[in-house]
Parts: sequence; C-alpha cells; structure tokens
Amino acid sequence: MCGIFGYVGHQSNAAEIVLKGLKRLEYRGYDSWGIAAVGQTGARIAVKKKAGKIGGATVDDLPKSTLAFGHTRWATHGGVTDVNAHPHLDCTGTIALIHNGIFENYEQIKKKLIVRGHHFRSETDTEVAVHLIEEYARSMMFTKAVQKAFNDMKGLNAIIVTDVKNHTLIAARNGSPLVVGFGDGENFLASDAAALLPHTKQVHFLEDDEMAIIGVNAIMLFNAKTGEHLQPKKQRLTWNVRDAEKGDYPFLMLKEIYEQPGVVSDIAANAAYVQTHAAHIKKSRGAYLVGCGTASYAAVAGEYLFSKIAKRHVNVAIGSEFGYHLDFLNRDSLIVAISQSGETMDILESVKKARQKGAKILALVNVLGSTLYREADYKLMIDAGPEKGVASTKAFIGMLAHLTLLAYAVAGKTNDGVAVLTRAVVSMKKVLSDPSVRKIKKLAKKLKKSEHIYVIGRGLSYLTALESALKIKEISYIHAEGLAAGELKHGPLALVTKGTPCIAFLPDDETYGANLAGAMEMKARGGYIIGVSHKPHEVFDYYIQVPTAGEATIMPNVVVAQLLAYYLTIERGFDPDMPRNLAKSVTVK
Ligand code: AGP
Repeated sequence: MCGIFGYVGHQSNAAEIVLKGLKRLEYRGYDSWGIAAVGQTGARIAVKKKAGKIGGATVDDLPKSTLAFGHTRWATHGGVTDVNAHPHLDCTGTIALIHNGIFENYEQIKKKLIVRGHHFRSETDTEVAVHLIEEYARSMMFTKAVQKAFNDMKGLNAIIVTDVKNHTLIAARNGSPLVVGFGDGENFLASDAAALLPHTKQVHFLEDDEMAIIGVNAIMLFNAKTGEHLQPKKQRLTWNVRDAEKGDYPFLMLKEIYEQPGVVSDIAANAAYVQTHAAHIKKSRGAYLVGCGTASYAAVAGEYLFSKIAKRHVNVAIGSEFGYHLDFLNRDSLIVAISQSGETMDILESVKKARQKGAKILALVNVLGSTLYREADYKLMIDAGPEKGVASTKAFIGMLAHLTLLAYAVAGKTNDGVAVLTRAVVSMKKVLSDPSVRKIKKLAKKLKKSEHIYVIGRGLSYLTALESALKIKEISYIHAEGLAAGELKHGPLALVTKGTPCIAFLPDDETYGANLAGAMEMKARGGYIIGVSHKPHEVFDYYIQVPTAGEATIMPNVVVAQLLAYYLTIERGFDPDMPRNLAKSVTVK
C-alpha cells in the first residue's frame, strides 16, 4: 500500500514538509520514493525520486516552494528503479502525478497516446495517467481533464495531480484511501490520517468517486462522476502525535506491545457501548466473523468465545475465502468484519458481496474513516490508537478484548466480561515486567539460529499458537508453524527431532491435561519444550510464567509470543517494524 503526502500553504518549505510526511508513512512499506515541488515562479516542476529507502535523504536540491507532494511506492507495474518511482511528469514537465492502485486499462490508452505523439520514460501504468490528462487538457479546463482521465481509468485507484496554473493539488479516489487535512492558511493530503497529526486533526476522508481541489485557503469537493459540488464531512481525529511515533522506543512494534495493557483497560472501562452491538448479534440469524491474517485468528477466537461464554454458534471465514461462503447469506445475516486498517481488499470485497445479499455489516475496525468503517452499517472502533508496526499487536489484543466483551454481553453478563479483561491486564503487565522480559530475551538468544519452531495449543490457545507462529515468521523470518496439539499424531509429529524447539501454551483451563500430553509427545521425540503456563512442569526445558486470566488468558499468552518474535528479530539483525515483502495493509487482492 503506497504512501501519499501533499502540502499547499503559506510555508515555503513545502518539499521538507512532504519529506517528513513520507517518513511518517514509511511503516507501510515501500521500495522507492519521490517528491515534486512547484517552484515560486510556478513554471516547471522540480522532481526528486529514487529507488530504495528515504534514509538520510534531504530535499535541499529542490526549490523553495509552497506546493509539493510525494509518494512512497510498492512496485506493481515496472521494476524498482528511479525512473519508475513517482511522481511522473507529462511531456511538457508542467504536470506531475502520483498514484495508488492499479490502472487496469493503461495499455490500450498508452498505445493511443503514443500515436498522438506522447513520449514515455517509464514502464509504469501511472505515467499513462499523466499523459492522458495532458492530452485532455489540450481541449478542456484542467480540472475537467483530470476528472475525465480519472473516469477513464479502470480499477481501484487514487491519483493526485499538480495544477501549476491555479497553484492547487487535485485528488481523486476510487478504492485507494485518501484523506484531506484542513489547516490555517495551509491544507494537506495523505493516504492515512496518522501522517497529518503534526499539522491538523480536522480531516475529511474522501469517499469513492470523490475529487478534491486543495488550495492554500480552501478545499473544494466534487463528485468525480457528475462534477456536482459536495460538502466536506469534517471529522476530528482523536489520536495525538505521540501516539503515532516511536518516542523513546527503538521500534514502533515494541511501543505498541507495551501499550496493550492500557488498550484493554480502556476497552473494559468503556464497556457500556458493547450492549448495542451485542443486540445486533443477538438479532441476527447467522453471524459471520471475518478477517485476514492476524484478524482471522481473532475471528476464530471469537467463535470459541461465543461458544464458551454465550453458548452461541457464530460462523467464521477468512477474508480471502469468504466470497465462496456467501450463497446462503440473507437479509438476516450479520457480517462482523474485523480489520485493523479497514482497507484490506479481501475484506472489502467480501463485505460488498455480502451486502448485495442483504446482509448487515458490523465493522470491528481501528482506523476512523477507513473504507470498511464508512461502508459498515454498525461501527465498533477497536480504539487501540494508531498501529504502525506491520506486525499487528495491540490491534489484535483490542479485537480479542471487544470479542470477549461482546460474548459476555450476548450472555447478559457484561460485568463478568469486564472482570475477565481486568485480570488479563494484570497478567499482561506481569508478562511485560522486567524479569519476564529478561526470560523471553534469553529464550530468543537460544532460538535465534533455529530453522523451524513449532507452537501448539488447544481451544483458545490453539489460536494463540497460530498467532504466535505468524508473529515469529513474519518479522524474524524463522519458519514457525502453529498446530492444534491434538493434530500432532496425525502428521506434524514426524517433523520433531532432537532439539526441535516446541512452544507449548498450557493455560489453566479444561485443555491443560490434553495439551500437556502434546508437549510430552514432542519431548519424547527429542523436542526442546518451552512451556508457557501458569505453573512449571518437569516436561518443560524452558518455562515462562503467565498468570491465568480465564478466557482472556489468550491475551498475555500472545504477548509472550509478540515479545519472543520481536527479540528473535533483533537478535537476527532485522527490522521488526518493516519486514521484507510485507505491507501494513494489503489493499490489493
Ligand atoms: C499481522 O501481523 C499481519 N500484519 C497481517 O496478517 C494483518 O493482520 C492482515 O493483513 C489483516 O490486516 P487488517 O487487520 O488491517 O485487515
């Protein structure tokens, strides 16, 4: 998911402001970057763009400017090169454009533009868009040319164009998020709201097929299809700048791990809201919990929680598969779409199809104004604060906290749910205490050269096993596999040999005995058993204590795994915030 940041205003260091904005978007992952600045004379546009990371780059070689924008790119069409980085210029060098998304019909349009004499420098679909605007601008007003070109583009896209003559930025979106920020004598544009926090908290989230003209003193909105003027729906961001930055922590992920007790405390303290959403679940005839990746594990945990606590059956599907489960959805169905970013394409597409069947959508989402947030009938904010580490931590714990409360509320026992969350907070704080962290750090040193790590659990700790394995593999790059302990004998046990690291989650619940048997089976084959439990056991070669918290013990257990994954990554010399090949939000299918 690319990063976008734009500035128009009274300050003459626009390129510098944009560079800092792009650095706040680095967490999304990218492989090249670029900035365009419109010089004071308003003549040509100066562009600086490079493959690779921003690092210590400066914009001293760009002119003083009051209008600039920038982009961090994940290569889709065309390799990772300086030329393919955004922004792209038209033939005259007076129009610059940046783009998020995939311009599906770019090839046939490119052929026509070449016939019309346009010269292309890059292999990208994006560059076709800027030449298409140039072509239309020969015969119509510039804003109309942008609108027409945007409507010619097939696929889910967001484009931002410089209108040098009017000293504005023109933005249009269909599927790829864009948010405008209202300043005082200056205005902003970004691909996510957290990047705007140092400048403004007053924002408008562009809807699909909306266009914005962003000038120094005004932001005008239009319907990109009809040209009809629209009124901005201003919202005030509740986050603070420090929420979105590392502060004294070495990495965002570690900060977000330590914020988790506070996240759960806040959710428990505001439990009254949960009744409303519990009513939606109770009223539905068939509820589906849907998520991707870590959020899918929250969904499955939700199924266990609703069964254990509310004696209620709920269905589960992973986002990328949900589209194949839709046939019997109806107007009484409820889709609980779980997503930190609210921009995961596999979720958005499934939700759109479910809605066509008449189903209602309850979004459990962390980003205000995100696409999922805006498309849902009912909106339940995770309220974990901005999560910028690619590996989801506090958002996941927040999802679990809300699902636990919802299950208790459906059972008519909300106060019991609050009590369980309160125990989870105490247990998480214990896991995060210095002695516990030292123990986990020491384990990371032991395991850092492992090729494979197996993680087992039963019941809710089966989901702990799955999430733990995902954390370990996605940031430390050690192959890790989460297993239902009962499945070992059906195959995976063949993989256990002398010294194979096996993490066994053994919470103090009805699964303890059977779970212990799984650990013993692995031990008998030579496995190195790391027991994560409320009490030690002789079968453990390494023991990490986790005080029990009832059904919410999954939370402190997962915190152990998050810390282990984090310290394994540090030991192995990798960046836990920006793991290779991964983006914070998967906005393409
Ligand atoms: C989790 O650590 C990963 N970053 C990934 O699995 C993530 O949970 C998944 O892509 C879903 O993202 P979402 O919650 O923003 O929809």
